[in-house]
Amino acid sequence: MLPALRRCFCPAVSFAFVVFILSSSLPLQAQQPNSVPEELITNRANDLLKQMTLDEKIAQLSQLPGAHVPGYSSDEKPEETIKKLGAGSVLWVPDPKEIDRLQHLAVEQSRLHIPILFGLDVIHGYRTTFPAPLGMASSWNPQLVEQVQSVAALEARSVGIQWTFAPMLDIARDARWGRMIEGAGEDPYLGATIARAQVLGFQGGALVAPDHVLACLKHFAGYGAADGGRDYDASYVPEDLMWNVYLPPFKAAVDAGVGSVMSAYMDLNDVPASGNRWLLTDVLRKTWKYKGFVVSDAFAVHSLITHGFARDARDAAYKAFTAGLNMDMASGTYMKYLGPLVQQGRISQQEIDDMVRPILETKIRMGLFEHPYADLARSEQILNDPQHLQLARKAAQQSMVLLRNDNGLLPLDKNNIKSIAVIGPLGDATIDLLSMWGSGTAPGPVVTVAAGIRNKVGPTVKVESAHGPNISRPIPSPFENVEFLKMKEQPKQSLEEARKAFAEAVALAKRSDLAVVVLGEIDIMSAESASRSSLGLSNGQEELLEAVAAIGKPVVLVLVNGRPLEINWASEHVPAILEAWYPGGQGGNAVADVLFGDANPAGHLPVSWPRSAGQQPLYYNHNLTQLPETDPEFKSRYWDLLSTPLYAFGYGLSYTTFAFDNLKLSPTSTAVGGTIDITADVTNTGQREGAAVAQLYIHQRAGSASRPVRQLKGFERVALAPGAKQTVHFKLGSDELQFYSPMLKQWVVEPEQFDVWVGEDSTAKLHGEFELTK
Ligand code: BGC
Repeated sequence: MLPALRRCFCPAVSFAFVVFILSSSLPLQAQQPNSVPEELITNRANDLLKQMTLDEKIAQLSQLPGAHVPGYSSDEKPEETIKKLGAGSVLWVPDPKEIDRLQHLAVEQSRLHIPILFGLDVIHGYRTTFPAPLGMASSWNPQLVEQVQSVAALEARSVGIQWTFAPMLDIARDARWGRMIEGAGEDPYLGATIARAQVLGFQGGALVAPDHVLACLKHFAGYGAADGGRDYDASYVPEDLMWNVYLPPFKAAVDAGVGSVMSAYMDLNDVPASGNRWLLTDVLRKTWKYKGFVVSDAFAVHSLITHGFARDARDAAYKAFTAGLNMDMASGTYMKYLGPLVQQGRISQQEIDDMVRPILETKIRMGLFEHPYADLARSEQILNDPQHLQLARKAAQQSMVLLRNDNGLLPLDKNNIKSIAVIGPLGDATIDLLSMWGSGTAPGPVVTVAAGIRNKVGPTVKVESAHGPNISRPIPSPFENVEFLKMKEQPKQSLEEARKAFAEAVALAKRSDLAVVVLGEIDIMSAESASRSSLGLSNGQEELLEAVAAIGKPVVLVLVNGRPLEINWASEHVPAILEAWYPGGQGGNAVADVLFGDANPAGHLPVSWPRSAGQQPLYYNHNLTQLPETDPEFKSRYWDLLSTPLYAFGYGLSYTTFAFDNLKLSPTSTAVGGTIDITADVTNTGQREGAAVAQLYIHQRAGSASRPVRQLKGFERVALAPGAKQTVHFKLGSDELQFYSPMLKQWVVEPEQFDVWVGEDSTAKLHGEFELTK
């Protein structure tokens, strides 16, 4: 055992020294931008409530499906309900003309002319498709994330979509879980920072600026901890882990003024999230003082029966409503059963009013009553703004993580290459570069990797592509049947067809100077209902890579995927590996920019990269335990594999190199409640301009609970010319040093000794220490 770590194996501690107890509801909600005072907004909502019938109120608590989901929603059109009663919201209508038509029905034909709030999953773009969220998080660039979501909001709002079901803030520590791609990865601090940036981008800084949309944090909460990484399976998360790991991104979004919340599908500690009073009322409203409304996930109110939690649909409506869920997404259960529950006296009129009010207030605050319609002529201009494509390209460049670059194979020099083979089932992919919902909105043109390389090298270099065998899921995705999502498998091939495609690809690599092999997962293999038990390169992709590498020409592996994959062989035998995630519509151009050095990669992993699916869940901020893996005798938890990740959380290479030194802490001792200032110097020690991501990690050596081996508590992206040096500044105050103590059942900052590291990833070596005193 290393002496530094031995110190952390503390015996039982006395809790008397916990002198500083913090409330878990710290900052206030962001300021409302609307010039109309909140009191007037509430008065106007109350005036409306006075005029509304019970059925009209229940219609506001309902979100009607605007598209048919086979097996779930009826194919009944929402028109009749809209005309008769209005509707709180309609979802899944990507077509602007249809949005406009339905809005006219609500505003002109319903009795009280209350506009509809149109919702859609605009997660990483509407027309301009940006990198999928895990890619955006890999940029470690919150300003860029904010800018991207602000453009997504502008485009969506221009066509009448006023509400996005994003950001998705689920912490994901298990790459088998398909929805890892929709979030910001495994870390609560990075997750909270990216959450804040997304809310500000979508909403324009508050609730809700012109040309912006209402954001909806999801899925509240604990969804990423699904048993075995199996989507929708129950999560079992102890309360301290909820507060310390799973809830911080949600809290950050609430503090940033998020206007709506979506409850998750799964059971959290045996209580379905959509009927979970602890989550929806105790945490969200009582502790965090959240004032907006909660919508269920799709069909989740009715699903309370399937969970074995509600007896029947009436019971489901009752349990969801009384847990604190305002709006029923698509299941129609509130529509049918809230009325009878009021008549039975189980729910009061007052309770109904209290649940409708925040929905009306949101519509008033957003100015929907004054401006219910989109200006579709203006939207054409917005959707075709070339600056949006430039931003998408920049975002894609910054989202990519260079995992390996042996002997400086990258960047490539087009003057030294005569022919390039672009090989693999994602080399010529279009919609598969977008990821779920990227293709489901209204995507513009997509630049494939092969096309991006062609654009880059011009006509003097011969670029040919060979697809290799098609890839598909042995168990199909239910979303293939959802028309508007446009996600399709690659066609099934016979063995002979697959062999032929394999041979063609290898032959092309043989007659080319260099192979760029583009492998991974088509979009339908990641995101919702796309968990997997293995993390290998499926459908013969590994064999294709090995066959191409065996030729002996230089090989670059580009990964397009929604989660870390098993690439142990490649990590030893393929000289250059670039993780591109789902890079969006400009993905091909951005891959080429990075491969040819017009962009210097600066992305860093927002997740620990496993060696094998058997290591899952795997995360860097685990506890030390009595025998840390740093002990030379006990260096792995397994006897067949190292238990450490292949690539650490925070890791990412550049075409230049950085040195970190001169770590200073001031003071090195302060009383609980005080602040420690930390500085370190970052120097670009290579030959190229590049950006480093300086990361700050801490460790509390003892306390009322075992504390993680390291925790990220600050980061800064610094662009540096060759030879240039910059000092980065961090602060560690009570916000960073507090944790929810499972023993004391409250937030604490403890008078203890702390380690600090600053560097390029979660294995950073530059070390300092400080103490908090009583
Ligand atoms: C997903 C949500 C999504 C909703 C509406 C559900 O299946 O879990 O993330 O926002 O559908 O499309």
